[in-house]
Amino acid sequence: MLDIKQDARNFACRVVDLKKEYVLKSETVRALRGVSFDVPEGDYVAIMGPSGSGKSTLLNMLGCLDQPTSGSLWLGGDDVATMNDNQLATIRSQRIGFVFQSYNLIQQLTVVENIQVPLFYQGRSLTREQNKRTYELAKMVGLGERLDHRPTQLSGGQQQRVAIARSLVNNPYFILADEPTGNLDSRTSEEILQLFERLNVEGKTIILVTHEDEVSKRAKRVVRLKDGRLQWDKTNTQEVRDAAAQYAIDNMPVEA
Ligand SMILES: Nc1ncnc2c1ncn2[C@@H]1O[C@H](COP(=O)(O)OP(=O)(O)OP(=O)(O)O)[C@@H](O)[C@H]1O
Ligand SMILES: [Mg+2]
Repeated sequence: MLDIKQDARNFACRVVDLKKEYVLKSETVRALRGVSFDVPEGDYVAIMGPSGSGKSTLLNMLGCLDQPTSGSLWLGGDDVATMNDNQLATIRSQRIGFVFQSYNLIQQLTVVENIQVPLFYQGRSLTREQNKRTYELAKMVGLGERLDHRPTQLSGGQQQRVAIARSLVNNPYFILADEPTGNLDSRTSEEILQLFERLNVEGKTIILVTHEDEVSKRAKRVVRLKDGRLQWDKTNTQEVRDAAAQYAIDNMPVEA
């Protein structure tokens, strides 16, 4: 048999026959009915599918927010499907980066402090190295001049860039993004998609959920769910990706 544990090390994650059932009083909802796919390191995956198809459920499993009912989910050399809540919380704080549609920043904290939040969940005080890294991340996402600003003093796009920097601070297996451009106008969405593209070129693995074809075309690959199953898994050619990027630029509204 293939040594999946050994092999899993070259992947950001491996999902094997993953099932999730929600047991309610009146019925059992089978949100994922056996989903399998691999995400090699450096991949950029868009997860699509109709409402109720299991996208958020899958993202919750990948983000170690919830336990699957059965199947395996390999992150690095570990099958997190077998882990308990405490073990999942540890993985989450140490190796998962989240980006949400609504940014989820802490209003009282500055840009730099928001980027540091995942490190505080690790329960240790910051090392000099970690402190330095938060400043570097702020600069990397273009917020070097806004280090002491609070979220209310930032535009939506700037807030999402803080969230992206925050998602990278714990050197995650991948960035998990749920509709990251859902709240943004087309110009700002484009900025965020270009930032993802740059991070991916630099080697970061990205997994995002989107309802928008134009966003999914920017990824390297599209995984589509339907009724809790994987309906298809396609690679976007470089031509498709380039054309989508060009289309976004050509259709940019004129600046007010
Ligand atoms: N906590 C829960 N308890 C019971 N059922 C749930 C729970 N979470 C999700 N479900 C059900 O599981 C199925 C998949 O839901 P999920 O939220 O993953 O869909 P989705 O693809 O993210 O949809 P959307 O595009 O609307 O966000 C749905 O039928 C949903 O009602
Ligand atoms: Mg959802």
